[in-house]
Amino acid sequence: MADISAAALSVARSRLAERGAQVEWVVGDARHLRLREPVDLWHDRAVFHFLTESADQDAYLSTLRANLAPGGHVVLATFAQTGPTRCSGLLVQRYDVAGLVERVGAGFELVRGFERRHVTPAGAPQDFTHVVLRRLPADV
Ligand SMILES: C[S@@+](CC[C@H](N)C(=O)[O-])C[C@H]1O[C@@H](n2cnc3c(N)ncnc32)[C@H](O)[C@@H]1O
Repeated sequence: MADISAAALSVARSRLAERGAQVEWVVGDARHLRLREPVDLWHDRAVFHFLTESADQDAYLSTLRANLAPGGHVVLATFAQTGPTRCSGLLVQRYDVAGLVERVGAGFELVRGFERRHVTPAGAPQDFTHVVLRRLPADV
């Protein structure tokens, strides 16, 4: 699991208790991350949407390509166009399915895309867009 915040990883680790020992914990910026080896699954809920500048989005997507094995899958979840404009007080980039697929760009095929309302533990509704994409084996 990777996060720019060691404190966030520490919270996630404590929630997993002893199962946390099976996870590799990586403190790093998703715009520049280089994992030890390529992964078959990249899962991001509510991280990519913090990147509102196109250069930062491009850097993230380069990181994704550097770390995801060809044939691997990426699950991306961002706030939907009907979702909040801010997350944790910061402005976010909102997407619908087509816009998110377009932003990720060539080299991926859409497996599934949908929008769903998530209700936070505090009771706040948040509309999310989810896409599951498969990296085409030829995208190297
Ligand atoms: C709204 S939380 C989502 C956490 C978790 N994915 C979830 O769904 O519960 C956003 C997380 O993104 C992390 N984050 C923000 N910018 C990041 C970046 N550039 N690289 C890596 N992590 C980042 C924050 O530290 C925070 O833990």
